[in-house]
Amino acid sequence: MTSYAKAHTNIALIKYWGKKDPQLMLPMNNSISLTLDAFYTETWVSFQKELTSDRFILNETVQDTKQSKKVVKFLNEARAISKTKLFAEVKSINHVPTAAGLASSASGMAALAGATSLALGLPLDDISLSRLARHGSGSATRSIYGGFSEWQKGSDDATSYAVPLKEDLSDWDLAMIFILINDQPKKISSTAGMAHTVETSIFYPGWLKAIDGDLKDVRQAISEKNFTLLGETAERNALRMHATMLGANPPFTYLAPGTLTALDIVQKLREQGILGYCTMDAGPNVKVLVEKANVKTFLDALSVTFPKENLVVAFPGRGIELKEK
Ligand code: DP6
Repeated sequence: MTSYAKAHTNIALIKYWGKKDPQLMLPMNNSISLTLDAFYTETWVSFQKELTSDRFILNETVQDTKQSKKVVKFLNEARAISKTKLFAEVKSINHVPTAAGLASSASGMAALAGATSLALGLPLDDISLSRLARHGSGSATRSIYGGFSEWQKGSDDATSYAVPLKEDLSDWDLAMIFILINDQPKKISSTAGMAHTVETSIFYPGWLKAIDGDLKDVRQAISEKNFTLLGETAERNALRMHATMLGANPPFTYLAPGTLTALDIVQKLREQGILGYCTMDAGPNVKVLVEKANVKTFLDALSVTFPKENLVVAFPGRGIELKEK
């Protein structure tokens, strides 16, 4: 029997940046994200008596030990919980440019948590899936849900998981334009980047100090459907996260010249009253939060500088889907 799961990526509007407990994958702060339809992962998992080790096949290519590390670590956790000794074959198709800061780990680990839970007979409620996904990757906690969700940092393994904030966005015409500045795998993983920042950045305490205010503003913006408050808070929060890296020792940044060009174009449109707000993750790509009615105006303005094929429009996506196949 093979279990299947499909999970969409999410982009954080209030970022998760730093772990309080790397072993349990507990974050320093709550984060809030929007799940999107354009990028997703499909994963098939089967535990088999014949296997003598786990096998991970990504986009039809067998992965080596190093490439399979995160998946095997996750499977070890799942085996410990379900008390099985069987090894698994995991096949994933990533409809996301892997490791380009487009949060492939979020959809990938959420899909893996879903398919593994189904295969091992583990609980399938959203909170259990979110908690298990956390062991694979922090941002994956939020990809269990459609629309907006919040990862509550919690204080231990049982209390750290995401909850939905607003899953049904049929009454709010939002879109996100992805500007692919560079689809090469990043040099510093988000895991390593956040650990280095927590340990060494003189700005990290400032990041933590501001987070409760940002979370409050985004929750309010979502409940009131206040686009300006949502966007302004998200852009400010993303820039603060990137500022923490500049304050690290040694300093580093994921931002590239194209990132700043994109920020500038969006800022200029805002000055003309056409509202869009930027957010960037552990990579140079920019995601612009816009209202659906303005998508064309933004694409026209951005395509003067960026190739059209590097501009991808996404809309709010659905939560995880599970199937026995
Ligand atoms: C910048 O979830 O990839 O995208 O938990 O170490 O696997 P690990 O990190 P990951 O980090 C995501 C960081 C971020 C912000 C966010 O998605 O909240």
